[in-house]
Amino acid sequence: MTANITSSAQTLQNYLDQGLRGMWYPVLASWEVGNNPVGITRLEQQIVLWRDAQGAIHALEDRCPHRGARLSMGWNLGDRIACWYHGVEVGGDGEVKDVPAVDRCPLVGQKCLRSYPAQEAYGAVFLYFGVTADEAPSELTFPQELADDASYSNFLCTASWDCNYQYALENVMDPMHGTYLHSSSHSMAEGDRKADMALEPTDSGFIFKKNGQIGVNFDWVEFGNSGAYWMRLSIPYKQRFGPGGHFWIIGMVVPEDKDHCRVFFWRIRKVKDWQRDLWRFMYRNRLEALHWDVLEQDRIVLENMAPNARSREYLYQHDVGLSRLRRIMQKEAQKQLAMLSELEAAQ
Ligand code: FES
Ligand SMILES: [Fe+2]
Repeated sequence: MTANITSSAQTLQNYLDQGLRGMWYPVLASWEVGNNPVGITRLEQQIVLWRDAQGAIHALEDRCPHRGARLSMGWNLGDRIACWYHGVEVGGDGEVKDVPAVDRCPLVGQKCLRSYPAQEAYGAVFLYFGVTADEAPSELTFPQELADDASYSNFLCTASWDCNYQYALENVMDPMHGTYLHSSSHSMAEGDRKADMALEPTDSGFIFKKNGQIGVNFDWVEFGNSGAYWMRLSIPYKQRFGPGGHFWIIGMVVPEDKDHCRVFFWRIRKVKDWQRDLWRFMYRNRLEALHWDVLEQDRIVLENMAPNARSREYLYQHDVGLSRLRRIMQKEAQKQLAMLSELEAAQ
């Protein structure tokens, strides 16, 4: 599966534009995978997902081993999927289980397709994208605002954006845009329109924050890696928005192809018992619409950036956070490309 990747011909940026591997990504909301197979593109790979009778998710390369029809157009047979074109059946492990049109077909028993390790968490389907196809997945853990769901209560919102995923990541790593782009929003009208920013390393990433202003607006953001890349931030909430204090967001982004991505934002508050019920009621009835308005502002700006905006920029002090993230990702991409070219040389 690595043979067709000629790392020598592929620039670092090209690789990054397609999506870093060696990690888990959320690919769909859980509710989007029902009985019918679903075909998606993530990291420029076409993938089919379906649920078996126990509800477990299977994910395979979306390409029938026989002649390349889309398996996502086929039939869900539980632990396997049947191609619509001539009925070939492939298991969740990527092995051909049956070729009903032919007796003793040599295709049966062969592992012909890449399969993706899958798991569900907090309302999303996560797939592992190895640097190589057969790599064992890393452990996936979550920031405490998701992991501790007895103390926190979350809603997942997800949307497709017509921009490269790096714009979506960098947008969150840039707290200062809140004061301008979202100045008319319900939660980001307050605070200084000027700031000094500082970077603070953490175990798995870093925090990027406004010096001297915390707890007023979108004043800090954290990048972390715990088997998946995530971003965390909190925004202070006025009392009229109900109990739970700060409003937390955990964000993740998955590349679809070079010009499209899917964003995942968990909107979270620290609430228990009746406060939890009130938050969930208020979110559905009032806050959700306000949040979508804010997210639309991000989407509209990002989808309309100048062509190749990232190739001609004049960054200033507020962009230190996104520059740091770029360096982390470039280093990781270099590592992955080196690994791929080593493997290629060994073949
Ligand atoms: S292309 Fe799928 S069975 Fe022929
Ligand atoms: Fe924003």
